[in-house]
Amino acid sequence: MPKAAPRVEKIPPYLFARIDKKKNEARSRGIDLLDFSIGDPDIPTPANIVRRMQEAVTDPRNHQYPSYEGMPAFRKAAAEWFEKRFGVALDPDKEVVALIGSKEGIFHLPWAYLAEGDVALIPSPGYPVYKVTTLLAGGTPYFMPLKEENGFYPDLDAIPEDVKEKAKICFVNYPNNPTGAHGDDGLYERVVDLAAKKDILICHDAAYSEVTYDGYRARSILEFDRDKRYSIEFHSLSKTYCMTGWRIGFAVGNSEAVQNLGKLKTNIDSGVFQAVQEAGIEALTGNQDSVEAMKAIFARRRDLVVDGLNSIGINVGRPKATFYIWAHVPKGYTSADFAEMLIEKVGVVVTPGSGFGDEGEGYFRISITTDDDRIRAAIERLRGLRI
Ligand SMILES: Cc1ncc(COP(=O)(O)O)c(C=O)c1O
Repeated sequence: MPKAAPRVEKIPPYLFARIDKKKNEARSRGIDLLDFSIGDPDIPTPANIVRRMQEAVTDPRNHQYPSYEGMPAFRKAAAEWFEKRFGVALDPDKEVVALIGSKEGIFHLPWAYLAEGDVALIPSPGYPVYKVTTLLAGGTPYFMPLKEENGFYPDLDAIPEDVKEKAKICFVNYPNNPTGAHGDDGLYERVVDLAAKKDILICHDAAYSEVTYDGYRARSILEFDRDKRYSIEFHSLSKTYCMTGWRIGFAVGNSEAVQNLGKLKTNIDSGVFQAVQEAGIEALTGNQDSVEAMKAIFARRRDLVVDGLNSIGINVGRPKATFYIWAHVPKGYTSADFAEMLIEKVGVVVTPGSGFGDEGEGYFRISITTDDDRIRAAIERLRGLRI
């Protein structure tokens, strides 16, 4: 076998490999693992969406190659949903592109913008794809720490001037994975201001925009950049409609950025299976009661985890969005050591914060994609540890 290309070596080692090994060892010892490490809703896709898929899959017109940028009807549904939700009108032909899940668009966008030496501003901790795609595209990541004392917002003033000059794209993600923080108006205004001053394309990852609680409604970056001069925003049907396995999302915003992403995609993939796009239309335009029901389930689980952790001395806030709880590891442990210890001693799996970047060290993430009984059982196992 020839040696793999150097670019493959640029991909950072899989930080969860140690955890996976421990999980397998524990399972082989017959331990019933309570797994809170996966950001994948356990709730089935709503029935109306599944039914639409069943019909669409029998239609031979859907068996051929789809159009790379998405069916006009899907892009129109996405534009209408967006305008109703955020009050910003979009041209479905130029300002919307269908994606094979938002991850696909997030990965490909930097390839359209970064040349050797160009900088991408990336939050740390953050969704790992921002860093990997930047490295593979030949760009240079600059990590913006998301500090707890700053509400898990980046301090844009702390970015050195020469870095700002070289920056071409800036990743922003609210509601945020892994911290559970949500964006406020001031943050979006500061980001748009930076983009305007330094000619930077803002890539706002809004995958969790609909997973919100306690009356909080997430904002779109386009509400702050209404002329769509500086921004592209990534939306996902995965979390909102419990459709992670279906692979569908869309990007909206600056027409040049959307079309450059589309141009790349013509050469990389052949679009989203049309039956899945039809199911996506049903999701976006059909009855939205299932979204409210899902949010009620996650809000209840969030309270169980937050109250449970606080009752055993692990103090955490109550996030208004996402299905993640971001907590400090107890003194004396690294994130990875703590996560390994939990698997070994009590069969509870959490994600070590260091897997999301250097600034994630000292934290662990709990994903509330597991049912109430297993959450209660996990809290009791943790209580028994007396940490
Ligand atoms: C912050 C963030 N963005 C994007 C994605 C990708 O979601 P999808 O490709 O399913 O739309 C995820 C998935 O976990 C995520 O956490």
